[in-house]
Amino acid sequence: MAVLLAGIGPGDEVIMPSFTFVSAATAVVLRGGVPVFVDINPVSLNLDPAAVEGAITDATKAIITVHYASVGTGIDRLVTLCQRHGLILIEDAAHAVGATFEGQPLGSFGQMATLSFHETKNVISGEGGALLINDPELIARAEVISDKGTDRARFERGETQKYVWQDVGSSFRASELTSAFLLAQLEEQDAIVARRRELWARYHIALESHEIRGGLLRPNISQSCGTNGHIYYVLLSDEDKRRTLIDGLKAQGIHAVFHYVPLHDSPAGRRYSRTAGSMAHTVSIASRILRLPMHLGLTNVAVDRVVTALGETLGKPSDG
Ligand SMILES: Cc1ncc(COP(=O)(O)O)c(C=O)c1O
Repeated sequence: MAVLLAGIGPGDEVIMPSFTFVSAATAVVLRGGVPVFVDINPVSLNLDPAAVEGAITDATKAIITVHYASVGTGIDRLVTLCQRHGLILIEDAAHAVGATFEGQPLGSFGQMATLSFHETKNVISGEGGALLINDPELIARAEVISDKGTDRARFERGETQKYVWQDVGSSFRASELTSAFLLAQLEEQDAIVARRRELWARYHIALESHEIRGGLLRPNISQSCGTNGHIYYVLLSDEDKRRTLIDGLKAQGIHAVFHYVPLHDSPAGRRYSRTAGSMAHTVSIASRILRLPMHLGLTNVAVDRVVTALGETLGKPSDG
């Protein structure tokens, strides 16, 4: 919906990270647009604003940025860049419900922001999401697009005698059952974020000694970011080390996982998109990142068990 509202059409370029989920890229391709992938910053894991600036061409229409692991670093520079070049900024805030940058909620910086309520997220409804619109001029069209391209919402408010097909659109609305489930989740959002932050901090403190010994890197998050504890990840020295850890943890019944396979290096990515500049950080981070178990049902004891198992597995090569 965001891409439709942004008016992306054939040949329009949309700059986005390759280190992300497919939703943003496939939405652009569905409108005939071209995703242009640029590299991420290796510390924030968000779009590198300098790389974005270098990728802007006459065909660039929008930037879709991701707040990876609910970190907002770089969003201020992207806002300035978009204003300077007359581009639409869309925040993929799938990870970022309840997170802030310099005190301002993520999802409120661009003209639009997309949220995900997929079961893996902080606030869930099984599947589904929401579009946040920060530009009042887009709201009337969004209402129509979200309701199969009709003005039924105006009809239901008594503003028109009948509703008719007005525009392109689809069935973007959530069912009442899904919405009811989501409402209960949203009511608990503060408690959910608070508990996830506790779990995040517990990992972070417990893993400091491993970082000092050089076994891994912990997330390095600027003071400006109020994160929501969505993901706790570590960065390993290389892919082999990560494989050893995944297998070692699995042997102890612990499910730790890597994350995105870079989109530019996927079959559809190669067919439909292009890259701009080096993708070295994207490729490197994608091969070294390991996400540790993080969900609301996780206990402090379970976090401690993960940390112990991780320490044992990290120690193995040098012990043996
Ligand atoms: C950055 C990002 N955007 C979007 C999504 C997907 O959202 P949805 O499945 O609701 O389209 C994910 C899911 O993992 C994601 O990580």
